[in-house]
Amino acid sequence: MNSPQTNVEAFVRTYRAEIDAAIARVLDSGQFVLGPEVEAFEREFAAFLGVRCAIGVASGTEALWLALKSLGMSPGDEVVTVSWTATATVAAIVETGARPVFVDVCRDDLTMDPAQLSEALTARTRAIVPVHLYGQPARMPEICTIAQQAGVPVIEDAAQAHGAQCAGRSVGRWGRSGAFSFYPTKNLGALGDGGAIVTEDANLAGELRSLREYGWERRFVSERHGWNSRLDELQAAILRVRLRHLRAENASRAAIAVLYDHALACAPFITPPRFADRPSVYHQYVIRHPERDRIRARLAVRKVPTAIHYPVPVHLQPAYRQFGRGPGSLPVTEQAAREALSLPVYSAQGNVEEVVSVLIGLR
Ligand SMILES: Cc1ncc(COP(=O)(O)O)c(C=O)c1O
Repeated sequence: MNSPQTNVEAFVRTYRAEIDAAIARVLDSGQFVLGPEVEAFEREFAAFLGVRCAIGVASGTEALWLALKSLGMSPGDEVVTVSWTATATVAAIVETGARPVFVDVCRDDLTMDPAQLSEALTARTRAIVPVHLYGQPARMPEICTIAQQAGVPVIEDAAQAHGAQCAGRSVGRWGRSGAFSFYPTKNLGALGDGGAIVTEDANLAGELRSLREYGWERRFVSERHGWNSRLDELQAAILRVRLRHLRAENASRAAIAVLYDHALACAPFITPPRFADRPSVYHQYVIRHPERDRIRARLAVRKVPTAIHYPVPVHLQPAYRQFGRGPGSLPVTEQAAREALSLPVYSAQGNVEEVVSVLIGLR
């Protein structure tokens, strides 16, 4: 068989027997939405992160949206976040009725710049949403100190950072709550959509469980205006399989990153920085180079799959331009959009050697 082209393909091939058994268990149970598999997954995911509560929902976007919605946003409220992220981060904020306020990212790791965060806070700031982009934890001690001094809650977008830690504490546990995505390509991915919110606050967890199913406290009676954002049993059962292997999968991504780091040490690319107190789980391994498009085309000729995360920063996308200050307002973000290239980070060592040989040959 050919080598897998995506980490999803690799997951299915490697753990096919376990996945088949999990699916059969659900088919035999006759329960398909918010049943025992979801409950077990929520317990196991919470234990994995060392957090009190996990609430399974329909996607990472809705995890973020519900976490923000539980703050009770009013029109005119502001949420400070980054533009250098998946569109979903900003879509979730806008859907609450709040206005996203964009700050730039740090030049080294492309996560929220705490100095800019301080400057962006106003009397209307209702939340701060840092993003642990590419699996790299943001500067959470600094961000949380600023947030605490301002009395503003932090909601972490941990969609790309399952299992990453900052100063020994899992991401998702630093703020009021953390949002995860289980989109198939994520480090902890389902075979369909899914997401979760995690929190230490049991009361908040109860409210979120109600919000994810029409605001019910008991069936068919809505105590508050809620929504349908349920995780299904098949995805939960599959996630339980993948969760069992997540530590090993993250370790194998880290090992591939080491190979890239060493091989590219003398090459003219910016490689991801390394921080001893907040190591990445390498959802993506992203290099930067001013001639990114030429490099990408050369890799494509050799059939090396690459991606650009992200070609257009959110503050320059037509739907969200109204919230930003236009081109040139976030220079680090805009330069990253021109230079960032994601290399494959899930495959065997042989693929790494192939990628590196093309990259080195470009010099
Ligand atoms: C940073 C970030 N936030 C939020 C999301 C939204 O997750 P989902 O696709 O599960 O809705 C994603 C996934 O693409 C993401 O990468």
